[in-house]
Amino acid sequence: MIYLDNAATTRPKPPGVADAVTAAMDGWGNCGRGVHPEALAAARTVYGLREKLAGLFGCRRPDHVCFTPNSTLALNIAISGLLGPGDHVISTDFEHNSVLRPLYRLERQGMGLDFVSADSRGQIDYDDFERLLRPDTRAVVCTHASNLTGDLVDIDRVGEFCRAHGLLFILDASQTAGVFPIDMERQHIDVVCFTGHKSLLGPQGTGGLCVREGLDIRPFAVGGTGVQSFLESQPEEYPTRLEAGTLNSHGLAGLSAAVDFLLETGPDNIRAHETALARRFYEQVREIPGVTVYGDHSKTERAPVVTLNIADVDSGEVADELAERFGIATRPGAHCAPRLHRALGTTEQGAVRFSWSYFNTEAETDAAAEAVRILAEE
Ligand code: ALA
Repeated sequence: MIYLDNAATTRPKPPGVADAVTAAMDGWGNCGRGVHPEALAAARTVYGLREKLAGLFGCRRPDHVCFTPNSTLALNIAISGLLGPGDHVISTDFEHNSVLRPLYRLERQGMGLDFVSADSRGQIDYDDFERLLRPDTRAVVCTHASNLTGDLVDIDRVGEFCRAHGLLFILDASQTAGVFPIDMERQHIDVVCFTGHKSLLGPQGTGGLCVREGLDIRPFAVGGTGVQSFLESQPEEYPTRLEAGTLNSHGLAGLSAAVDFLLETGPDNIRAHETALARRFYEQVREIPGVTVYGDHSKTERAPVVTLNIADVDSGEVADELAERFGIATRPGAHCAPRLHRALGTTEQGAVRFSWSYFNTEAETDAAAEAVRILAEE
């Protein structure tokens, strides 16, 4: 199998990740729920992971890295814990349903909501942020990279817009965390929501949010914390504030090993490898008659994703052929990104997404391009 569905979840994981999970399951107690060596071993690794992630996101407070099972829950916590009726929010057509549905739910409760729209080439006009600004605008919530096309949002520019107008900036870094530079201080980002199982190369069931110092997010879930047990409300301190219940410390052990690999290998090296493979594929498929590629590939900085269709063939049929005849794993359909599919005119057909990680090779990439050429000829 040639695995090119890394935007859904990276596979394989780096060496040492599975072993770290197994060792934690065999050896650890409950992180933050005791002072015996087994509990402390878990607590030390989990705190070390907070430090590493805070470093990756340019956040000066490791204790403001709070863990959740995925970025969907992190986004729900950030959006519902900061925004509500009476506020106005600006988002974009690039968003995944993990941003859209929490925003739509608040909109039904009386929150104002506007989107920077994408054109039929899937591109946004940054001047629209200014045009959509209202006196009651409170925040921008947007992704760092479209999971559908791989196009990046210029977060320098959005961050500067938020700073200039005193807005909160909540960033969905699901497709970029760990590999693309993010600096909360420099880019004026208030919350970075991330998942562990994509570009951070860790296990599924890990993720979280990194919260700017001084920002109070209303807790979403309340419950056991292992500290201040006689308090009737959730403790106010981070990370406990947003972490009710036992953590997935076994998964976080794997994420910690994955982040070690990432830091040793170097995010820039990982990004360069993935980007080069995606470009190599794009250069081979772009001129094939009948193939339509989506997104702006004139930019060198983009997530390692190439999404295409072959004539008007249903994307699910193409992905099935790729898997069954050529052993190539891709993702077809709507990718939980309804607004961008509407903009591109692909709501019925969907699109076939190829996505790379550090462990893919040029040979795999060339085989995938050749498979597209054969299917397009047929
Ligand atoms: N959000 C993930 C994707 O884009 C699962 O495939």
